[in-house]
Amino acid sequence: MRKIIINGGYPLRGKVKISGAKNASLAIICAALMSDEPLLLDNVPNISDIQVLLEIISIMGVKANWQGPGLLYIEPSVKIDVKAPYEQVKKLRASNLLLGPLLAKHGCASVALPGGCNIGVRPMDLHFKGLSGLGAKMSLEQGCVIGKVDKLKGARIYLDFPSVGATENIMMAACLASGQTIIENVAKEPEIVDLANFLNAMGAKVRGAGTDLIKIKGTTVLGGCKKYSIIPDRIEAGTYMVAAAATRGDVLLENIIPKHLEPFIAKLREANVSIEEGEDTIRVQAKNELKAIDIKTMPYPGFPTDMQSQMMVLLSTVPGFSTITENIFENRFQITDELKRLGAKIKTEGRLAVIEGVPTLQGTNVKATDLRAGAALLIAGLIATGKTQITNSEYIYRGYQNIQEKLNALGASVEQV
Ligand code: UD1
Repeated sequence: MRKIIINGGYPLRGKVKISGAKNASLAIICAALMSDEPLLLDNVPNISDIQVLLEIISIMGVKANWQGPGLLYIEPSVKIDVKAPYEQVKKLRASNLLLGPLLAKHGCASVALPGGCNIGVRPMDLHFKGLSGLGAKMSLEQGCVIGKVDKLKGARIYLDFPSVGATENIMMAACLASGQTIIENVAKEPEIVDLANFLNAMGAKVRGAGTDLIKIKGTTVLGGCKKYSIIPDRIEAGTYMVAAAATRGDVLLENIIPKHLEPFIAKLREANVSIEEGEDTIRVQAKNELKAIDIKTMPYPGFPTDMQSQMMVLLSTVPGFSTITENIFENRFQITDELKRLGAKIKTEGRLAVIEGVPTLQGTNVKATDLRAGAALLIAGLIATGKTQITNSEYIYRGYQNIQEKLNALGASVEQV
């Protein structure tokens, strides 16, 4: 088991380069399985979630290997084992994104019920609804999601909630369905737009990604995309922005798309954090006294649930009372018990957390409960006095490339044991 030890109290200063987006890469690697030709993906983060997905598709018979930093070669094979192996799938929730591409390309898919972070019930009814709507026969057998179809047929599908994963699965599947598919009330996250751009680069006809309604004209063959570059990771960027503000530092983030961070930038500004936006950079400084704020997590363009835990840490040392309402995942307040051990004052009731700012946190032993909670505890360790030890730190490496090196280059003292 890996542990992270942080000697807190150093303000972060300097530059940090943001890696490619984890969530866009996971979806795009799955979509690549529909290509008839080999392809290269650029700006793919080398993190454990990606490694697990690469292991899964390799076992299924796809050739996938790194050809340089961030450069991933994928050669989908004609003959593929459409069964995604349980041992790996249980580690990665996003393996459910294999369902759409496998069904569309091979007419058959078997994916063990996925694991991943324990942040909520995380049902799959909308994935089922969408894929069934396209004509697939979906069933649950011995812990596996099984899908079968002769040929998917375009349809009109309404999502009761704008689920990111369901939007992606249905959008991918519809690219190889016959006729037109219209998906209403879809997710609008930048990762959805990136996936649509990649599908179009392979010859698909996806229109409207980034709005509430996506229209897809089915085609028979996908391929011909030699190289596609993934967008930067807005959540990794947001995490470094919070770390800079929480340690009252001064950090320039490079390789980002500021537009993707708008909901988050707005909230940091409201908290009195100074933010300068460049074309593909953001400078974050905490020059003045920070202010308590209220946050509600919402689907994009609302405040991202994946930034909620990190913000809770920042607000825990901001004078006054702040609130966070978690509207997406019901288990995302597990971190509060750990933060209380560091001296934070937080009360939760249902989906509401009330945070009373304290002057400082004190280092102690804490446990990561999920990926973003792990990152948030790391930030807590950076501001706490003395030593903080995080167990279960494997979670953090699922989503943050070289986090220890990046933080230490900014003046932090973080080591892994
Ligand atoms: C994706 C992201 C994750 C992020 C989340 C919300 C990836 C790999 N993961 O997860 O980092 O936190 O979006 O921005 O991209 N729901 C249903 N039925 C379904 C599917 C979802 O009720 O069939 C509900 C979920 O329980 C949850 C909400 O919809 O309450 C949002 O989930 P969803 O957008 O699907 O998240 P993921 O795609 O799993």
